[in-house]
Amino acid sequence: MPTVSSTTRPQRWQDKLKPGVLLRAALARRGSMQAHLGPEWHTNLHAIHETREMTAILLTDAAALQIMVAAKAARRLGGVMAEAGVFMGGSARLICEVKADSQLHLFDVFETQQRAVDASGSELRAHFGTVHGHLASVERLLSPYAGVHFHPGFFPESTIGLPDHAYSFVHLDMDLVSSTNAALDYFLPRMLTGGILIGDDYYDPGVRQCFAEHCGHGGYTLMELPWGQAMVVKHSPL
Ligand SMILES: C[S@@+](CC[C@H](N)C(=O)[O-])C[C@H]1O[C@@H](n2cnc3c(N)ncnc32)[C@H](O)[C@@H]1O
Repeated sequence: MPTVSSTTRPQRWQDKLKPGVLLRAALARRGSMQAHLGPEWHTNLHAIHETREMTAILLTDAAALQIMVAAKAARRLGGVMAEAGVFMGGSARLICEVKADSQLHLFDVFETQQRAVDASGSELRAHFGTVHGHLASVERLLSPYAGVHFHPGFFPESTIGLPDHAYSFVHLDMDLVSSTNAALDYFLPRMLTGGILIGDDYYDPGVRQCFAEHCGHGGYTLMELPWGQAMVVKHSPL
Protein backbone atom coordinates (compact mmCIF):
# COMPACT_ATOMS: atom_id res chain seq x y z
CA MET A 1 0.00 0.00 0.00
CA PRO A 2 1.47 3.36 -0.96
CA THR A 3 2.19 5.72 1.98
CA VAL A 4 2.23 9.51 1.94
CA SER A 5 5.23 10.80 3.73
CA SER A 6 4.91 13.98 5.84
CA THR A 7 7.28 15.71 3.45
CA THR A 8 5.05 15.08 0.37
CA ARG A 9 1.57 15.52 1.99
CA PRO A 10 -0.02 18.87 0.98
CA GLN A 11 -0.25 21.22 3.97
CA ARG A 12 -3.79 21.81 5.24
CA TRP A 13 -4.85 25.37 6.28
CA GLN A 14 -5.41 24.12 9.84
CA ASP A 15 -1.76 23.05 10.05
CA LYS A 16 -0.64 26.61 9.41
CA LEU A 17 -2.38 27.87 12.59
CA LYS A 18 -0.52 27.92 15.89
CA PRO A 19 -2.23 25.84 18.61
CA GLY A 20 -5.12 27.74 20.24
CA VAL A 21 -5.59 30.34 17.50
CA LEU A 22 -9.03 29.04 16.47
CA LEU A 23 -10.19 28.86 20.08
CA ARG A 24 -8.98 32.40 20.77
CA ALA A 25 -10.73 33.68 17.63
CA ALA A 26 -13.98 31.96 18.66
CA LEU A 27 -13.79 33.40 22.18
CA ALA A 28 -13.08 36.90 20.85
CA ARG A 29 -16.13 36.68 18.60
CA ARG A 30 -18.35 35.91 21.56
CA GLY A 31 -17.67 39.42 22.80
CA SER A 32 -18.04 41.11 19.43
CA MET A 33 -21.14 42.75 17.93
CA GLN A 34 -21.58 39.73 15.67
CA ALA A 35 -24.07 38.00 17.93
CA HIS A 36 -24.97 34.39 17.42
CA LEU A 37 -28.71 34.49 16.69
CA GLY A 38 -30.86 31.57 17.78
CA PRO A 39 -33.57 30.18 15.45
CA GLU A 40 -36.33 32.46 16.77
CA TRP A 41 -34.32 35.55 15.92
CA HIS A 42 -33.66 34.22 12.44
CA THR A 43 -37.44 34.18 11.96
CA ASN A 44 -37.60 37.82 13.02
CA LEU A 45 -34.61 38.74 10.87
CA HIS A 46 -36.27 37.02 7.94
CA ALA A 47 -39.43 39.11 8.56
CA ILE A 48 -37.28 42.27 8.57
CA HIS A 49 -35.57 41.38 5.30
CA GLU A 50 -38.87 40.33 3.73
CA THR A 51 -40.39 43.68 4.78
CA ARG A 52 -37.42 45.55 3.28
CA GLU A 53 -38.27 43.88 -0.04
CA MET A 54 -41.88 45.08 0.21
CA THR A 55 -41.45 48.65 1.46
CA ALA A 56 -39.05 51.08 3.11
CA ILE A 57 -37.96 50.57 6.71
CA LEU A 58 -35.97 53.51 8.05
CA LEU A 59 -34.29 51.43 10.76
CA THR A 60 -31.21 49.25 11.14
CA ASP A 61 -31.73 45.51 11.66
CA ALA A 62 -30.72 45.88 15.32
CA ALA A 63 -33.32 48.60 15.95
CA ALA A 64 -35.97 46.65 14.02
CA LEU A 65 -35.23 43.50 16.07
CA GLN A 66 -35.49 45.52 19.26
CA ILE A 67 -39.02 46.63 18.32
CA MET A 68 -40.08 43.06 17.61
CA VAL A 69 -38.60 41.74 20.88
CA ALA A 70 -40.28 44.46 22.97
CA ALA A 71 -43.69 44.23 21.25
CA LYS A 72 -43.69 40.47 21.65
CA ALA A 73 -42.88 40.76 25.37
CA ALA A 74 -45.52 43.47 25.93
CA ARG A 75 -48.38 41.65 24.22
CA ARG A 76 -48.88 39.51 27.35
CA LEU A 77 -50.01 42.62 29.25
CA GLY A 78 -53.24 42.95 27.28
CA GLY A 79 -54.09 46.53 26.28
CA VAL A 80 -53.46 47.96 22.83
CA MET A 81 -50.35 48.91 20.85
CA ALA A 82 -49.50 52.01 18.86
CA GLU A 83 -46.98 53.44 16.47
CA ALA A 84 -46.62 57.17 15.87
CA GLY A 85 -44.54 57.77 12.73
CA VAL A 86 -45.51 55.09 10.24
CA PHE A 87 -44.27 56.49 6.91
CA MET A 88 -44.51 53.56 4.46
CA GLY A 89 -45.50 50.99 7.08
CA GLY A 90 -42.23 49.04 7.37
CA SER A 91 -41.89 49.08 11.15
CA ALA A 92 -45.69 48.74 11.54
CA ARG A 93 -45.51 45.47 9.58
CA LEU A 94 -42.85 44.19 11.99
CA ILE A 95 -45.10 44.98 14.96
CA CYS A 96 -47.96 43.18 13.16
CA GLU A 97 -45.73 40.10 12.82
CA VAL A 98 -45.45 39.76 16.61
CA LYS A 99 -48.50 41.49 18.09
CA ALA A 100 -50.77 38.40 17.99
CA ASP A 101 -54.32 39.47 18.98
CA SER A 102 -53.39 42.97 20.20
CA GLN A 103 -55.06 45.90 18.47
CA LEU A 104 -52.56 48.25 16.80
CA HIS A 105 -53.25 51.98 16.35
CA LEU A 106 -51.19 53.76 13.70
CA PHE A 107 -50.67 57.52 13.66
CA ASP A 108 -49.12 59.39 10.75
CA VAL A 109 -49.87 62.46 8.72
CA PHE A 110 -49.59 60.48 5.43
CA GLU A 111 -50.73 62.65 2.49
CA THR A 112 -52.58 65.13 4.70
CA GLN A 113 -49.10 66.64 5.17
CA GLN A 114 -49.60 68.50 1.89
CA ARG A 115 -52.88 70.06 2.99
CA ALA A 116 -52.15 71.57 6.39
CA VAL A 117 -51.53 75.28 6.48
CA ASP A 118 -50.87 75.83 10.20
CA ALA A 119 -47.47 75.95 11.96
CA SER A 120 -47.29 72.18 12.54
CA GLY A 121 -47.91 71.60 8.84
CA SER A 122 -45.12 73.92 7.80
CA GLU A 123 -42.67 72.34 10.27
CA LEU A 124 -43.41 68.87 8.88
CA ARG A 125 -43.06 70.08 5.29
CA ALA A 126 -39.81 71.87 6.12
CA HIS A 127 -38.41 68.58 7.47
CA PHE A 128 -39.92 65.98 5.12
CA GLY A 129 -40.43 68.11 1.99
CA THR A 130 -42.88 66.33 -0.28
CA VAL A 131 -41.90 62.89 1.07
CA HIS A 132 -44.68 61.10 2.92
CA GLY A 133 -46.32 57.71 3.20
CA HIS A 134 -49.55 56.91 1.37
CA LEU A 135 -52.40 55.71 3.53
CA ALA A 136 -53.85 53.40 0.85
CA SER A 137 -50.46 51.67 0.26
CA VAL A 138 -49.90 51.10 3.98
CA GLU A 139 -53.47 49.78 4.35
CA ARG A 140 -52.71 47.35 1.51
CA LEU A 141 -49.38 46.30 3.05
CA LEU A 142 -51.01 45.57 6.41
CA SER A 143 -54.26 44.08 5.09
CA PRO A 144 -53.21 40.47 5.98
CA TYR A 145 -53.17 41.43 9.68
CA ALA A 146 -56.28 41.79 11.88
CA GLY A 147 -56.88 44.59 14.37
CA VAL A 148 -54.99 47.43 12.66
CA HIS A 149 -56.50 50.94 13.00
CA PHE A 150 -55.36 54.00 11.06
CA HIS A 151 -55.46 57.56 12.39
CA PRO A 152 -54.25 59.79 9.55
CA GLY A 153 -53.53 63.46 10.28
CA PHE A 154 -51.36 65.63 12.45
CA PHE A 155 -50.48 64.25 15.84
CA PRO A 156 -51.76 64.99 18.50
CA GLU A 157 -54.91 66.40 16.78
CA SER A 158 -55.40 62.92 15.26
CA THR A 159 -56.06 61.53 18.76
CA ILE A 160 -59.10 63.76 19.35
CA GLY A 161 -62.17 61.62 19.97
CA LEU A 162 -60.18 58.40 20.55
CA PRO A 163 -61.19 56.40 23.62
CA ASP A 164 -58.59 56.40 26.43
CA HIS A 165 -56.88 53.12 25.58
CA ALA A 166 -54.36 51.48 27.89
CA TYR A 167 -51.17 50.87 25.87
CA SER A 168 -48.89 47.86 26.34
CA PHE A 169 -46.43 48.85 23.61
CA VAL A 170 -45.73 52.09 21.73
CA HIS A 171 -43.18 52.79 19.02
CA LEU A 172 -42.35 56.47 18.41
CA ASP A 173 -40.48 57.34 15.23
CA MET A 174 -41.42 60.88 14.25
CA ASP A 175 -38.04 62.55 13.66
CA LEU A 176 -39.21 65.90 15.04
CA VAL A 177 -38.70 67.03 18.62
CA SER A 178 -42.12 68.76 18.76
CA SER A 179 -43.89 65.59 17.53
CA THR A 180 -41.93 63.37 19.95
CA ASN A 181 -42.80 65.70 22.80
CA ALA A 182 -46.51 65.60 21.92
CA ALA A 183 -46.43 61.80 21.61
CA LEU A 184 -44.70 61.32 25.00
CA ASP A 185 -47.28 63.69 26.55
CA TYR A 186 -50.08 61.59 25.09
CA PHE A 187 -48.88 58.00 25.45
CA LEU A 188 -46.86 57.85 28.69
CA PRO A 189 -49.81 58.53 31.04
CA ARG A 190 -51.83 55.94 29.12
CA MET A 191 -49.24 53.13 29.35
CA LEU A 192 -49.95 50.02 31.38
CA THR A 193 -47.64 49.12 34.26
CA GLY A 194 -44.89 47.07 32.63
CA GLY A 195 -45.73 48.67 29.27
CA ILE A 196 -42.82 49.37 26.92
CA LEU A 197 -42.27 52.46 24.79
CA ILE A 198 -39.47 52.50 22.24
CA GLY A 199 -38.41 55.83 20.80
CA ASP A 200 -36.24 56.29 17.73
CA ASP A 201 -34.07 59.36 16.91
CA TYR A 202 -32.38 59.18 20.30
CA TYR A 203 -29.11 60.46 18.82
CA ASP A 204 -30.89 63.85 18.50
CA PRO A 205 -30.12 66.01 21.59
CA GLY A 206 -33.62 67.55 21.46
CA VAL A 207 -35.26 64.10 21.49
CA ARG A 208 -32.98 63.03 24.37
CA GLN A 209 -34.06 66.06 26.33
CA CYS A 210 -37.75 65.23 25.71
CA PHE A 211 -37.22 61.73 27.13
CA ALA A 212 -35.24 63.05 30.11
CA GLU A 213 -37.98 65.57 30.93
CA HIS A 214 -40.79 63.02 30.64
CA CYS A 215 -39.12 60.03 32.32
CA GLY A 216 -36.57 61.57 34.70
CA HIS A 217 -38.92 62.00 37.67
CA GLY A 218 -39.65 58.39 38.63
CA GLY A 219 -42.35 56.03 37.47
CA TYR A 220 -40.30 54.98 34.44
CA THR A 221 -37.07 53.16 33.67
CA LEU A 222 -35.32 54.79 30.73
CA MET A 223 -32.76 52.68 28.86
CA GLU A 224 -30.50 54.21 26.26
CA LEU A 225 -29.88 51.61 23.57
CA PRO A 226 -26.68 51.59 21.51
CA TRP A 227 -28.50 51.76 18.16
CA GLY A 228 -30.15 55.18 18.46
CA GLN A 229 -33.24 54.11 20.37
CA ALA A 230 -34.51 54.72 23.91
CA MET A 231 -36.62 52.14 25.68
CA VAL A 232 -38.93 53.15 28.52
CA VAL A 233 -40.64 50.70 30.88
CA LYS A 234 -43.43 52.09 33.01
CA HIS A 235 -43.43 50.83 36.59
CA SER A 236 -46.11 52.89 38.34
CA PRO A 237 -49.86 52.32 37.87
CA LEU A 238 -51.96 54.25 35.33
C1 LIG B 1 -38.97 58.46 10.13
S1 LIG B 1 -40.57 58.35 9.48
C2 LIG B 1 -41.20 56.84 10.18
C3 LIG B 1 -40.48 55.64 9.66
C4 LIG B 1 -41.12 54.30 9.99
N1 LIG B 1 -41.32 54.13 11.42
C5 LIG B 1 -40.20 53.19 9.50
O1 LIG B 1 -39.38 52.67 10.25
O2 LIG B 1 -40.29 52.86 8.32
C6 LIG B 1 -41.39 59.59 10.40
C7 LIG B 1 -42.88 59.74 10.09
O3 LIG B 1 -43.47 60.50 11.13
C8 LIG B 1 -44.47 61.34 10.57
N2 LIG B 1 -44.72 62.45 11.51
C9 LIG B 1 -43.81 63.21 12.16
N3 LIG B 1 -44.42 64.11 12.94
C10 LIG B 1 -45.76 63.91 12.80
C11 LIG B 1 -46.93 64.51 13.38
N4 LIG B 1 -46.85 65.52 14.25
N5 LIG B 1 -48.14 64.03 13.02
C12 LIG B 1 -48.25 63.01 12.15
N6 LIG B 1 -47.19 62.40 11.56
C13 LIG B 1 -45.95 62.84 11.89
C14 LIG B 1 -43.86 61.76 9.24
O4 LIG B 1 -44.84 62.20 8.34
C15 LIG B 1 -43.18 60.45 8.78
O5 LIG B 1 -44.03 59.68 7.99
